[in-house]
Amino acid sequence: MTNGIDNLLHETRRFEPSADFRAGAVASEELYEEAAADRPAFWGKQSAELLHWNTPFTKTLDWSNAPFATWFEDGELNVAYNCLDRHVEAGNGDRIALNWEGEPGDSRTFTYAELTTEVKKAANTLLDLGIGKGDRVAIYLPMIPEAIISMLAVARIGAVHSVVFGGFSAESLRARIDDAAARLVITADGGWRKGKVSALKPAVDAALAIDGDGSSTVEHVLVVQRGNNDVEWFEDRDLWWHDEIGRAEAEHVAQPFPAETPLFILYTSGTTGKPKGILHTSGGYLTQAAFTHRNVFDLHPETDVYWSTADVGWITGHTYVVYGPLANGATQVIYEGTPDAPHPGRWWEIIQKYKVSILYAAPTAIRTFMKLGRQIPDAFDLTSLRLLGSVGEPINPEAWIWYRDVIGAGKTPVVDTWWQTETGAIMVSALPGVTTLKPGSAQVPLPGLHIEVLDDAGTPVGKNAGGLLVVSEPWPSMLRGIWGDPDRYVETYWSTFPGKYFAGDGARLDRDGDIWLLGRVDDVMNVSGHRLSTAEIESSLVSHPRVAEAAVVGAADETTGQAVVAFVIVRVEQAGDLRQEADALAAELRAHVSSQIGAIARPKQVFIVAELPKTRSGKIMRRLLRDLAEGREIGDTTTLADTQVMNIISTNIAG
Ligand code: PRX
Repeated sequence: MTNGIDNLLHETRRFEPSADFRAGAVASEELYEEAAADRPAFWGKQSAELLHWNTPFTKTLDWSNAPFATWFEDGELNVAYNCLDRHVEAGNGDRIALNWEGEPGDSRTFTYAELTTEVKKAANTLLDLGIGKGDRVAIYLPMIPEAIISMLAVARIGAVHSVVFGGFSAESLRARIDDAAARLVITADGGWRKGKVSALKPAVDAALAIDGDGSSTVEHVLVVQRGNNDVEWFEDRDLWWHDEIGRAEAEHVAQPFPAETPLFILYTSGTTGKPKGILHTSGGYLTQAAFTHRNVFDLHPETDVYWSTADVGWITGHTYVVYGPLANGATQVIYEGTPDAPHPGRWWEIIQKYKVSILYAAPTAIRTFMKLGRQIPDAFDLTSLRLLGSVGEPINPEAWIWYRDVIGAGKTPVVDTWWQTETGAIMVSALPGVTTLKPGSAQVPLPGLHIEVLDDAGTPVGKNAGGLLVVSEPWPSMLRGIWGDPDRYVETYWSTFPGKYFAGDGARLDRDGDIWLLGRVDDVMNVSGHRLSTAEIESSLVSHPRVAEAAVVGAADETTGQAVVAFVIVRVEQAGDLRQEADALAAELRAHVSSQIGAIARPKQVFIVAELPKTRSGKIMRRLLRDLAEGREIGDTTTLADTQVMNIISTNIAG
């Protein structure tokens, strides 16, 4: 993604808000002014306005124990009450909260009153199972309403959820269960994907059997019936969701919890092999989730129909499917399946059916639709759309323009939103109705945030220069740490530039001071907007009996942003006739990574090579492998221990 940035910076198209949009916009210029005057006070005001506090806070930010922050520490609230009951009490119980669309075409609708009742029943079920405040619950579900109900039920009783994306393998699930010491897993028999049922429960069974002696921390597995596929049943451990919910009490009074009560852990890839359990807490997180959802998406909850296509297994699904929209009383659409099932116009059909007005999606999807051609979306009525959002990776100006022209009828604002699992909520984005839009740039920090681009020495770069993106002041939805590993938290995020949060992204400021994201500067890849660690995939490859060494790089890919490309050295004693079987071995290794981590981590290409490029101190020079994988001329090789090695690798690959 760093290639071609000079071209990007010459992008001159600009889109001013229309007079109509400006007149009805939720956001206003004054937000910036107000926030600049006193950031913590600004957030305090937003929080008091956007949320219901049972015990109002008297403090905003406490940074005395930096980099461990607290926000609104002496206040008390219930997150689920904020997302549910209060809307019902305000007379909006009949408003639709969820329009759920199953992949095979079945659908379910929940009003706020109905969703509240379901969550109360689920909360009572959890309590009956002995789950209480602070306990961890792993959620491994497809995109079905029960995923949202489960998350809110866990939040309602002050427990902590750890949602694991349904595409992750049994091993990845087990590692996450163990790290958080989860007592309960909520899963489904299976879910619909690409026209068939994809089983989930067998992965849970396998995960819990990994040590062979049943010694995991999990006491029960609660199973939603969705795929109707056959599943094995363990009488002492497994419970059907519908049985338990069926006998649960429908009344449950939400109890307030202190603002810093842990809300969830979400695992994400870092630069080492072990995923990090990013910890978020309640009051600050919900404040920024609600504020950004309202202002960045120009939400008018009485009239808008909002759809974020993200899975709840990712942070976007947490903040912009569950907590932001529901805290704001929005009506939203959620969809179980893939965009191309059963036909490539499925997304557009859903927008037409539910009259979606706000769509939030990833550039990789937009680029895929671009390739398929505009005749597909053109066959549907998309006139309900009035705002489009993008997240997960840089959106190139051509994709931005296509999104606005073809999906947004050449009228809708497009907001490119930069943020991370760690930031909890959107940090950099235009405000619709306020900002003049610039295709390809995420543009400006939101009000109340202090973001800078620094050079290696930690000095702000100034306009028209590039460097590293940092957040220079604490923000309400910031991660509160890495689960069980405070040192890693300090080391990973706060030691590069002491006192400032290091995001791991390169960025450039243009002549106006607008921010252009350039991709990760560390060993983290971004494939279809999903974060993957090179180290994690390398260690999976090396765990295969035939592999001696592996190096993984993220190579630029037209559709997915980056693609995983692996270079592998086979063990000498196992080498055999490599020429003949390289293809078969490459296929086997791709499948191995898929079964160990999950299909999203499967390398697009595996090259069997005789050498890897290393510095004299033994560090693999991934930069050179990336040059090779992207078909570029190989860069500077003078720091290699053996300067011939790249020739050998190129010959291997060509052969
Ligand atoms: O590199 C940035 C990229 O995604 C990373 C965060 O990934 P994750 O924690 O999985 O969260 C993704 C959804 C918020 C960032 O470090 N990224 C995210 N949004 C953008 C982006 N890169 C460029 N532009 C964006 N809008």
